[in-house]
Amino acid sequence: MIHIRIANREQIPIIVAEHLRKQLERKPDSVIGLPTGSTPLMVYREIVAQHKKGKIDFSRVITFNLDEYVGLDGKHVQSYKYYMYKNLFRHVNIDLNNTHIPNGVAENLEEECRRYDQLIEQLGGIDWQLLGIGLNGHIGFNEPGECLSAVTHVQRLLEETRIANARFFGSLQDVPTHAITMGMGSILRAKKIVLIATGQEKAKILAKAVNGPITTRVPASFLQLHQDVTFVLDQAAASAITRLRNDSCEFAH
Ligand code: PGA
Repeated sequence: MIHIRIANREQIPIIVAEHLRKQLERKPDSVIGLPTGSTPLMVYREIVAQHKKGKIDFSRVITFNLDEYVGLDGKHVQSYKYYMYKNLFRHVNIDLNNTHIPNGVAENLEEECRRYDQLIEQLGGIDWQLLGIGLNGHIGFNEPGECLSAVTHVQRLLEETRIANARFFGSLQDVPTHAITMGMGSILRAKKIVLIATGQEKAKILAKAVNGPITTRVPASFLQLHQDVTFVLDQAAASAITRLRNDSCEFAH
């Protein structure tokens, strides 16, 4: 069941931070899954603000990031390791040893993927997963195609994804061609999932994810199978979603 919450853009980070606060109140040592990209930035800012007010405590939290570019080490300003440190980790009381991001410069990438999955499993799986959604429906870097992978894997990025992310790099040729991404299995096994999206340009793909058939052509459509997913959207992003066939969606304003 996908719950849809529609809110003003400024309310979105507040709603998500509150969701996380409640999660950590229930389970202070939660394993949380984290995304990167532009949409989560406002959420991280709010989480940091809540932390500074003493409302969110990261001392026992364990994090797993969804993905990392192949070939970028943590010193590269476009690496997701750098992003997470800059936008979240250095501002909160998290133990950096409890933060996990795939190593995009591992000598053996296949081994790195297996290590990542084993670690997620050893630590009990993801309790609370925050997601963005790509314009093409990807979650993490699980790109649309003939098939999806359940496990962490090296993903060749589609041209459309590289073009969408070129804005961060300055030029398309600087965008890595591959990334390591958590697979659909770890994401769908997360106990709770919160997906955030804003803006008209995401409206079409969100309608496909929520109203359309479950298909590997729209990886986010698999979220329809999950028991506890909340999409937190602004009006523009939610504008093409219709009330649903077979109760797989519930609106809460
Ligand atoms: P965005 O990225 O937040 O920068 O739009 C979303 C995604 O690709 O997952």
